[in-house]
This record gives sequence, structure tokens and C-alpha cells, in this order.
Amino acid sequence: MTGALTDSPTGRVARPNAPVMKAIAVIPGKPDSVHLAEMPRPELGEVPNGRGVLVKVLSVGVDGTDKEINAAEYGAAPPGFDFLVIGHESFGRVEAVGANVTELVPGDFVVATVRRPGHSIYDLIGTNDMTTDDVYYERGINLRHGYLAEYYVDDVEFLVKIPRGLKDVAVLLEPTTVVEKGIAQAYEIQRRLRVWHPRKAAVMGAGTIGLLAAMALRIRGLDVTVFGLDRKPYLNSDLIEALGARYESTRDLPIPAGAVRYGPFDLIFEATGFSPVVFESMQALAKNGVLVLSSVTGGDRMIEVPADRINLDFVLGNKVMVGTVNANREYFEIGVKDLATCEAQYPGWLSRLLTHPVDGLANYQQLFELLTMGKDAIKVYCRVAD
Ligand code: BGC
Ligand code: ZN
Repeated sequence: MTGALTDSPTGRVARPNAPVMKAIAVIPGKPDSVHLAEMPRPELGEVPNGRGVLVKVLSVGVDGTDKEINAAEYGAAPPGFDFLVIGHESFGRVEAVGANVTELVPGDFVVATVRRPGHSIYDLIGTNDMTTDDVYYERGINLRHGYLAEYYVDDVEFLVKIPRGLKDVAVLLEPTTVVEKGIAQAYEIQRRLRVWHPRKAAVMGAGTIGLLAAMALRIRGLDVTVFGLDRKPYLNSDLIEALGARYESTRDLPIPAGAVRYGPFDLIFEATGFSPVVFESMQALAKNGVLVLSSVTGGDRMIEVPADRINLDFVLGNKVMVGTVNANREYFEIGVKDLATCEAQYPGWLSRLLTHPVDGLANYQQLFELLTMGKDAIKVYCRVAD
């Protein structure tokens, strides 16, 4: 490929004779368009001021967002492109660094953040995850190419160093950061109470995010109840019990009854992807409690709720509900620490989440088959290179 315009962290760069690389891409707006693309290999010089880092991609996880992007329900190509390289859960090794990079050296392992700065005041202070802009830039999701490629280049500012001892589980860092942000926001909000000391937590949903939320809350010392759909025993319920948390199927113990038995909950993390659970969770919250919502629900479901009752209990109980999306660097750094604590406290637990590896970018079809139909899949991911 010659004379192509390539996306760079800063904009478009024309490079006539760049070497090419493979990538997994979709054509936004066209359902089921996932394919193997060829594009120019990115170069350090695309990042200004000598602050670029060239990363060789080792593994990339996929999730519901990738599913929605391939279903053409979400996602946009970068300006000047009709395709979008997907993949936002990255893990890689530094190949080369720009002249003014002191933070990383070749050989270091890194994970990249996802969202890039926009224009709101929150973006200007480095909290892109809190942007109020309508247009947001997310690598692998919206208007910026992602990491399901052989290489990527980015500003060192957006790369988080991974200790060598976490290299086999670090592909779980990005989903972990979604949980870390939610929990950190909850604690930050609860400083209003001056003496808040949460003891009982509930996690709604036992998928990847639910499992990681249970882990993060257990290592903070909370008594954790996870509500899932399926009856135990199965891998996810085993994993939850391995953390010393309890698992309940809502088929046998609906959330209201579960709250009577194990709650009320000081902190609830909602990650089911099913919005009616939000309103049940509101009723399972303790006085002064905090409910964190993380499900991205693209549909337009309607339900009836006991509005007066929910409102009254919220008002009389001084309760809080907060939405959370994305994560900035700060939460990636907390995530690294929690992954390390988890490895020390529950050795081998994180690896058990890595249920469905797929070897090589060329097997993108298998990657999506497992993502959409995989039975018992917790994390489907592509091993891009050794
Ligand atoms: C990603 C987040 C992103 C969100 C919305 C999630 O799958 O993990 O980083 O902000 O989708 O696009
Ligand atoms: Zn995601």
C-alpha cells in the first residue's frame, strides 16, 4: 500500500513508502463487516516532541463493545478512513521510543488507555473519561484506530507500564479499569459522609466486569454477594466463591429477597447489561449507600417501577446513584496494583478468567464466533504475537 493517509494520535499523516501490517477492522455502519485489513505500519514520528512509543501488540481482549461495533450499532472510523481497526483491551511490548521519552525503554510491557482528549475542561485537566463533549475519541471504538494490529504508536502519556510479573494477565487490565473507576468514584462521593466504612457490597452480574468488581471489592475487605442469572455451580460461581464472596442465582433468590438476607448493601456495583436490575438495586441499597451503574444499554426497554417507594427510600436514606464509563490513567494505575494484589492474595485466579484464546489476527472469524456464541466464555482474546 502506498501513498496512504494513516491515522496517528494527532491526526492524519501521509506516508508514501511505509511498510504494511495486518489489522482486524470493520466498516462502521455495515453489519458483520469484520475483516483482515492491511495498512501502513505506524511510526514514532507521528507523535510530536519525541514523545512517541512504538508498541508491538502481544494480546488484545474483545468484549460486548466490539460485538456492537461489528453489528454496526456503535463505532466510527477515523477521519479519512472508511474502516476502523478495532480492539481496545491491549497488552504489548515497547519496540522503540522517541528521543524525549524517559518513562519507558524497549522491552517494557505496556497497556494503553482508550480515550483520547477532546475539548471540554475535563479533557484539558487530563480526565478525558469525564468529558462533556458530544464527540469523544476512543481507540478501537470511536474515531481512532484500535490495537488489534501488529503494532501501534502512541504518546507515552497514554501508556501504562506493566510489571513483568503481571505479563500473563495484563490483557485484563482495561476491563479492570472500568471497575476501578466505578469503585474509586463511589469512595470519592462517600467522603461526604466523613465516617463511611462500607461492610456489605453487592455486585449485579457475574460476567467479566462483575467478576473483576467482586475481586476489587474483596481485596478492599468487603463482604461481597454476587447476583447472577445462572444456577451454580459453574466456572463464574466457582471463581466468585474462590474469592471468599458468595454467589446467588436470581432464579432462586431474587434481588429484593437477597437484600433482606445479605444486605442492605452499602455499595452496589451494577454490571448486568439489563437495565431493570438498576431499579431493583436502588431498593437493595442501605441508608447512605452508593449504587454504581456501569451497564451500557443501547436498547429502548420500558418497565414499570414503584416510583414513589424508590424515591422515598432514596430521599429518606440519603442514597446516591452514579454512572461510570471509561477510565483515565489514574484508574489504570490503581488497576495494576489491584491485579498485583489479586495475584498475591488469590494466586492463579486471574488466569482462570482467560478462557478463550485465539491465535493470530488471521483468526478474526473465530474470535468473533467465540465472542458472540462462546459457551462459558469469560474473556475471549487474540494472541497477536508471542
Ligand atoms: C470500553 C470503555 C469505553 C466504553 C464506551 C467500553 O467497552 O471498555 O473504555 O469508554 O466501552 O465506548
Ligand atoms: Zn470494553
